[in-house]
Amino acid sequence: MAAPSPPNDPSTDPSVQDLIALRPWLKHDAMDGLLLDGVPLAGIADTVGTPTWVYSAATMRARYKTLTGAMSGAGLDMQVHFAVKANDSRAVLSLFAEQGAGADVVSGGELLKSLRAGMPASRIVYSGVGKSAAELRLALEHDIGQINVESAEELAMLSAIATATGRTARVAFRVNPDVDAGTNDKIATGRATDKFGIPFDDAVRLYAHAAALPGIRTVGLATHIGSQILGLAPYRDAYARIADLVIALREHGHTVETVDCGGGLGIPYRNESAPSPAGLAAAMRGAFHNLDVRLAMEPGRWLVGPAGLLLASVVLVKQTPLEPFIVLDAAMNDLVRPAMYDAWHGIVPVSAIDAVAPARPATVVGPVCESGDTFARSRSLPALSPGAYVAILDAGAYGAVMSSTYNARPMAAEVWVDNGRWSVIRDRQPIEALWERERLPA
Ligand code: LLP
Repeated sequence: MAAPSPPNDPSTDPSVQDLIALRPWLKHDAMDGLLLDGVPLAGIADTVGTPTWVYSAATMRARYKTLTGAMSGAGLDMQVHFAVKANDSRAVLSLFAEQGAGADVVSGGELLKSLRAGMPASRIVYSGVGKSAAELRLALEHDIGQINVESAEELAMLSAIATATGRTARVAFRVNPDVDAGTNDKIATGRATDKFGIPFDDAVRLYAHAAALPGIRTVGLATHIGSQILGLAPYRDAYARIADLVIALREHGHTVETVDCGGGLGIPYRNESAPSPAGLAAAMRGAFHNLDVRLAMEPGRWLVGPAGLLLASVVLVKQTPLEPFIVLDAAMNDLVRPAMYDAWHGIVPVSAIDAVAPARPATVVGPVCESGDTFARSRSLPALSPGAYVAILDAGAYGAVMSSTYNARPMAAEVWVDNGRWSVIRDRQPIEALWERERLPA
């Protein structure tokens, strides 16, 4: 197991200027304050209110191009399946569908949402350890491209449902390669102790069993070792094991047409060095280019994380004998990553004047009644007044999708920026919606 990473030293935090310089879609304008693709965020906040998620369509498109360009540059024939769990907004799914991507889904809900957003069923792969009978039936009814099976038990269930409904499931085995991706414990998925995937040593025996089952057509292998992975070595290890398995299966006379390389490519939130798509492509090529397999991958965070931010307002600044608390109107119910994974997110004042004012360490929190509702500690920020807007950066992945209505806080609005214009793609949830589906007991 990788050693837990040491806590961040606030004195080495990037400055507001550094954060912006590394994100070309953001810019401070002396008059209009922070711009996303040239659109003033203050104008959005004035109109829609806060907290509000804002996404840059151009950044998503550009990142998709960079990723697919790196794959084709390495001579890889790669189908990208966007990991819907990272951001399931219909606008986002439609954007990737238009770019030619498919979807990686993990629930019937994600499957239906992807279809509704225009993803062709043939480009949908379905992963997850606990697909219900109803969900498997739904996948078969829509004849989706591939089901990534994660256990012998699921295989039996799928075969029975496929046979009963007269369908054939195209099945890839999601194999657990027992590789530690060195990421946060809660998002590592490729170790033998994680719940995911078919144990490596069972794969050949089970594949033979699957190939003989009615209603099942085995098409290949899949793997996914975790998320926010910041090195290439775990990928190389996992891919080498999967490549060995392809060879072993073929030696046993089985067909392996495709390998789904999973997702997980990390992004720099603070000032981490993260592997490039070209580096990942080289790792894939190293393992698979001689094997004559169709390749697929399931990226989520890398495509959309940097393209989104959470706009919030300062409610008040609470002075204490220690550092002040900057209390925002956004909270852990909106963006749970800091509370859940101790994740670091850049926080940038929207006003250009605030951004260059003298800074001092502050703790940035939300109003929820838990001490875990803390976005940042000892963060160097200027003296912000009540009502000032801030942007919490790199919130396009695992942001809005992980929101809850804890403390009876409605789900925030979502805004799309494209081509110099902006539009609301999800209205702020009305307060009444919080109790609309409740009943008093009879
Ligand atoms: N494929 C499968 C089977 C997955 O389980 C995941 C993510 C992905 C693809 C996409 O991984 P990505 O490229 O986005 O790293 N909520 C956490 C992340 C959970 C990731 C779960 N699986 C966070 O906020 O960091």
